[in-house]
Amino acid sequence: MLWYAEVIAAFLCFLFIWHWRWTKHLPIINWPLFGMLPGLLKNALHVHEYTTRVLKHYGGTLEFKGPWFTDMEFVFISDPANIHHILSRNYSNYHKGPKFREVFEPYGDGIINSDFDSWRYQRRLIQSMVKNNKFESFLEKVSRGKVESGLIPILDHMSSTGIEVDLQEIFQRYTFDNVCFLVLGFDPKCLSIEFPQVAHAKAFDQMGQSVFYRHVVPEICWKLQRWLQIGEEKKLRIAWKFFDEFLYQCISSKREEITRIKAQKMEEANFDLLTACIELEQDEEGGEMDGSTKSNKFLRDMAFVLIGAGRDTISSGLTWFLWLVTTHPSVEAKILQEMREHLLVNNEINWDIKEISKLVYLHAAICESLRLFPPIPFEHLYSIDSDILPSGHPIGPRTKILYSLYAMGRTESIWGEDFIEFKPERWIS
Ligand code: HEM
Repeated sequence: MLWYAEVIAAFLCFLFIWHWRWTKHLPIINWPLFGMLPGLLKNALHVHEYTTRVLKHYGGTLEFKGPWFTDMEFVFISDPANIHHILSRNYSNYHKGPKFREVFEPYGDGIINSDFDSWRYQRRLIQSMVKNNKFESFLEKVSRGKVESGLIPILDHMSSTGIEVDLQEIFQRYTFDNVCFLVLGFDPKCLSIEFPQVAHAKAFDQMGQSVFYRHVVPEICWKLQRWLQIGEEKKLRIAWKFFDEFLYQCISSKREEITRIKAQKMEEANFDLLTACIELEQDEEGGEMDGSTKSNKFLRDMAFVLIGAGRDTISSGLTWFLWLVTTHPSVEAKILQEMREHLLVNNEINWDIKEISKLVYLHAAICESLRLFPPIPFEHLYSIDSDILPSGHPIGPRTKILYSLYAMGRTESIWGEDFIEFKPERWIS
């Protein structure tokens, strides 16, 4: 028996060394049993740089294999032709699907979790909400107010006292206040010198963290935790309940406010997105959807998606943008020069949105920052039927597709040899 065990062990060692020697030049190795997961875990701390390198090696498309006991298999893409095929040319064959909705459960039936008719309906609704003139002036008022009375005094205070702060935290507080005000008409006042602990913001953070957790652990683990109501899933349930109570409270007070304003034939003081949504919904043929309960759930999902979509994207985008500008003094000088030319009137800043939209160089610098550090570095979808990508890769039905916006922003064939440099000029033709 011992002799057999020795022979098997020697054979396995031989196979392991042979496999390692054969594949060691590859940026990612498909190990027996464990698939490509070890490579990903080893590089977890710089996963975006690593996957960019791997995708480059495989020409922008890789069939990722996970451990045999999980269903961690997906096609990973940064090839623009393949991404265009999925998101545009053959979009009807790709959807978010039930697995996506399960992971993003707190988003309910909001647009981020929707496909087909529901997606189209909500997209139309959001477009008409944000294009509403009253919302545009509310947006201008809120954004300017938060910068002048919140952000600038805090940054001034930090700079005069020389206190070291985490700029990302300041921007998170700033965007949470901004986005809650714009969506719900309620300012949670997270942005203040005392850095208060605001329960709504904490609950929202917890929900984001738990959704992220569902992305990184095998499905069976988080589902078991959800069933047993332990660990991260228990924290999610508590935060979710708390945040929902807050949202439903905002919705019912908003409904009362709108009825009161209409009865008194007054103009809304705050034309937030919730107001815009309730008004549009009431104006639609047939009035409310099918009773106020369903309608409240619809408004809850809409509000949650807009807060979720607008919060961390903007704060992450602002943080990277500021970091890039401060580490590139020539870009900073050009932005300041352009601002002086267009916005400075009698030594006062004119915040008019029409004047701000003339800042071409600033716009280019923001695009360049989003290219290098996209706040949503990758996205995923599922195929419905089989398909063939422009690169020739076959796609089976119900296949998970992950596309990397981070890697695409750093592809030499798109952006040129200097793709790694922060050069706003590349956006100005
Ligand atoms: C730097 C800021 C932002 C970035 C980088 C960003 C990025 C993205 C990306 C990559 C998507 C996915 C698109 C797709 O699936 O095709 C998306 C979807 C979406 N974003 Fe943003 N976003 C930003 C800010 C915002 C803001 C401020 C809002 C609104 C409050 C918002 C609302 C949405 C909505 C509603 C969707 C779903 C659209 C759909 O499925 O058609 N985003 N965003």
